[in-house]
Amino acid sequence: MLVLGIETSCDETGIALYDTETGLLADALHSQIELHVEYGGVVPELASRDHIRKTLPMIRQLIAEANITSQDIDGIAYTAGPGLIGALLVGASLGRALAMAWNVPAVGVHHMEGHLLAPMLEDNPPEFPFVALLVSGGHTQLVEVQSLGDYSLLGESLDDAAGEAFDKAAKMLGLPYPGGPQIAKLAQQGVAGRFTFPRPMVNRPGLDFSFSGLKTFTKNTIADCSNLDEQTKADIAFAFEDAAVSTLTIKCKRALKQTGLKRLVIAGGVSANQRLREALEKMTAAHQCKVFYARPEFCTDNGAMIALAGALRLKAGHVEPLEVKVRPRWPLDELQKLA
Ligand code: KG4
Ligand code: ZN
Repeated sequence: MLVLGIETSCDETGIALYDTETGLLADALHSQIELHVEYGGVVPELASRDHIRKTLPMIRQLIAEANITSQDIDGIAYTAGPGLIGALLVGASLGRALAMAWNVPAVGVHHMEGHLLAPMLEDNPPEFPFVALLVSGGHTQLVEVQSLGDYSLLGESLDDAAGEAFDKAAKMLGLPYPGGPQIAKLAQQGVAGRFTFPRPMVNRPGLDFSFSGLKTFTKNTIADCSNLDEQTKADIAFAFEDAAVSTLTIKCKRALKQTGLKRLVIAGGVSANQRLREALEKMTAAHQCKVFYARPEFCTDNGAMIALAGALRLKAGHVEPLEVKVRPRWPLDELQKLA
């Protein structure tokens, strides 16, 4: 079954073709970063307008590049939420319209389910069941995944998401948006031990997170520095990343122990972080567990993960009404469970 995937939930237009027999056929991504950079964050209306400009030409080009025709496509998957309502509506209305025109089924995919399944695009994909750490710009969640659509929330951030904390810390250090990769790059020049940041909520039981204290600590540390030179900025970036990574690692270890599961999947933009990957490789190896993640370009938003999630759902018999429905907020555990 060949499925066209359309991702337009935020500031990236992602288009992909995924085949349930042969895997990923082709994918394309257009990032709107340049459009939003002068505002220091995503401007929803500009995002929607740009998705309108990009989606259809990108679909046409991808079909040509993959050397197929629209008649070869068996289904359409589009992101139906969570995300920016206007941006979601672009992908949803186009996805539904194409499905109607081509007489194929369409499925509205949950963006975080897309992230969660993205490591299945790689060789040696994870098998169910597993614990998933979803760390993006809008979400920080630990989820017990039993099978496709069977998700139970183990814990989540009570305030800022991990990616949001990276973005805000970066902004305080004068780095451009999105801040995660910028902090990671600057931290490479940082010296360990000069600053020590707190590990929020690790001494309390449970699997919830809180990242707003880390943000305030960064703010106060910067305010206390009489000279914010490049080396000081790098040392702060290092200490911030170190605290975020070790907080996430401690909670992942706890989630594996609590569920008794042996596989950990990390997904979402922050899972592209090299130091997080290394820390989790080390922790899982020490506990006879294994960590799975996608290549960096499939950790951040992309069309391939939406095509994959939609293809798995359609193949498993998922059906839904023809209406164009999007959900800017959409709890992951409300998804339809499939065998
Ligand atoms: O999943 P994603 O592309 O979009 C959302 O669904 O939110 O995640 C974007 C987030 C941003 O906050 C960005 O700063 C963060 O992921 N990010 C990173 C890295 N790459 C992206 N954070 C830390 N280290 C990275 N290498
Ligand atoms: Zn995302």
